Amino acid sequence: MSFVIHQKKTSEEAFSFEDFKNYQSTLNRHPLFGKLLSLKDIKIFMTHHVYCVWDFMSLLKSLQNFLTPCKIPWIPSNDAVSQRLINEIVLDEETDQLPDGTTSSHFNLYLRAMKEIGLDTSQVKTFLDSIDSNGLYHSLKIAPEISRIFMEKTFSLIKPDAPHVVAAAFCVGRESIIPSIFSRILNQKELSNLDVPLFKYYLSRHLEVDEEKHGPMALTLLNSLCTDETKILEAKSAADIAINARIDFLDALEKLL
Ligand SMILES: [Fe+2]
Repeated sequence: MSFVIHQKKTSEEAFSFEDFKNYQSTLNRHPLFGKLLSLKDIKIFMTHHVYCVWDFMSLLKSLQNFLTPCKIPWIPSNDAVSQRLINEIVLDEETDQLPDGTTSSHFNLYLRAMKEIGLDTSQVKTFLDSIDSNGLYHSLKIAPEISRIFMEKTFSLIKPDAPHVVAAAFCVGRESIIPSIFSRILNQKELSNLDVPLFKYYLSRHLEVDEEKHGPMALTLLNSLCTDETKILEAKSAADIAINARIDFLDALEKLL
């Protein structure tokens, strides 16, 4: 699918949420979500989706690196609004406070949710350990094939000198579409009968923060980084790549159920 601009909020803003509706409705209709009917299905989903949870953080930290670099000596920025937005998203995603009083990244919460339903997380741990010693691209081969293909697309969009491209993948491909995808999973009546409290919490927490906070924040960041027509076109292209990668991922996963 490809990007369609429906309307602009103001002449300065390249994107609005209206522009993402097309993507959202395509993803909402994906047949995978009608097939997550049992614990076995949820296990297959999580075994693959955990890598999407992980690579999301690299999109986020890439934007944070660009907007609020950790350099000593510190140099002031003229864009404290963007810095505030990205730091606030990082605060939630990397160091969220959980109902049990602990503090955790959403990735580690996901690993806990996997363990809770009896999934072995050693393949993910081996993958993470390998990155340090063997580098990212060699380590990607350790991941399940459909997750590897998805992550390769993600990392192809992480370009330190093109933060508008990263922001498009982050905003359009993640923060703006995740709430509707996760609500499709949460609203399955079969899920209510399954004893997967941490997985349900993970989904509902994302619904809450992405819809109310992160989505609008990510859109503001994307618009602030798309400062000319070339960047707008590159951002649209990145959004298409990110969304099509998600559709390919869901298509491949559906075949495993
Ligand atoms: Fe988020």
